[in-house]
Amino acid sequence: MTKTFYMHKYLFELGHQPHISIAEIQAVFSHKKIKNKIISAQDGSTSNGKNIFFIVETSKELECKELINILGGTIKITEKIKEDNITNFLAKTPEEFKIQFSLSGPNSKKIAMAVKKQLKAMRRSVRYIEPKNTATILHNKLIKKQGDLTIFEDEIYLTKAIQPFEEFGARDYKRPGTDSFSGMLPPKLARIMINLGETNTDAVLLDPFCGSGTVLTEALDMGFKNIIGSDISNKAIEDTKKNIEWLEKTYNLKPKTQNLFVTDATKLSNDLGKDSADLIVSEPYMGKPLRGNENKLTLQKQNEELSDLYTKAFKEFYKILKKDGIAIFIIPKFKFKNEWVEINCLEKIKKAGFEIIPLSEESDSLAYHRPKQHVARVVWKFKKV
Ligand SMILES: C[S@@+](CC[C@H](N)C(=O)[O-])C[C@H]1O[C@@H](n2cnc3c(N)ncnc32)[C@H](O)[C@@H]1O
Repeated sequence: MTKTFYMHKYLFELGHQPHISIAEIQAVFSHKKIKNKIISAQDGSTSNGKNIFFIVETSKELECKELINILGGTIKITEKIKEDNITNFLAKTPEEFKIQFSLSGPNSKKIAMAVKKQLKAMRRSVRYIEPKNTATILHNKLIKKQGDLTIFEDEIYLTKAIQPFEEFGARDYKRPGTDSFSGMLPPKLARIMINLGETNTDAVLLDPFCGSGTVLTEALDMGFKNIIGSDISNKAIEDTKKNIEWLEKTYNLKPKTQNLFVTDATKLSNDLGKDSADLIVSEPYMGKPLRGNENKLTLQKQNEELSDLYTKAFKEFYKILKKDGIAIFIIPKFKFKNEWVEINCLEKIKKAGFEIIPLSEESDSLAYHRPKQHVARVVWKFKKV
């Protein structure tokens, strides 16, 4: 057996739900067959304050720019440099260029000033840019200039790629079709869910509760060529169409195969035949918006209705998914006082012909929750058996 050498070391700076970001990175590595050795996940000082770093070694150099455009939950990817001294690394910048750099990590300001002094003593023209946030790094083109550095446990890392956060923001706030009542999935979470599906972009992707089409627009942006979207509401389908048009125009995308129609997800097989989709990615109807003062009985009643809706929908998914088809599906849970009330539907979904594929080593599912929200979105992965 040949021994694998892990020669490249990376820090992935994670978004605000690090456990989900890690599951996403692992899904993408596994799908792309990137051999890797996980070192750890831990706190680190970043340009944004403190964030979690996922530390990994790989046998081959990673295509960081490509990866950052795929991932929804990673803010920054940095690679360990060979040099063990920041001054020596920066001094390699060709003489005709001014050295521009920023530095994050413990004592970074003090170290940066010392580095600047050393470089000046070497008669180099140098500018230190305080890394206030990722925007500073992007706007000063520090990635292209190979100047954004991070110190982590006495090792030096060079930023290779930063999340295109302005584009995510535009897709979240500037798209024309929105529905504040039903709510919208954050585009980053939609992208994470698509990645957890581990399919190629040739797969046919379906969202049967598509709302204003966040999953579908993210899929198109990721290069999916064939999408299906349905919803019980006319307005939702109109919004989805508007948002897809907006996306195609804004990003100059060629129109892809799309099938968008109004239907009840519990009757999906009236509109779609056998083997219609490879992958379902969906945030379904999650009940009436909660204020947090509902009584337990109201919550339980709503949970029974939702359990019934999801079970019926999965019976339809079974009919229209291809063999081994995957469903990445959100099942909400609701906060009642200090406890979480869950929807009792997993056994019924299994009975409908699905198995649960664990999404992390610690837990089968991944909860996405913002402080003060009364609802948590719990992401599950099901496979048709
Ligand atoms: C939470 S929203 C989905 C939002 C969507 N992920 C987005 O980002 O825009 C749930 C959607 O489910 C739809 N819906 C409710 N009951 C349905 C049913 N039985 N079949 C299909 N769609 C349904 C609603 O019209 C709503 O658009």
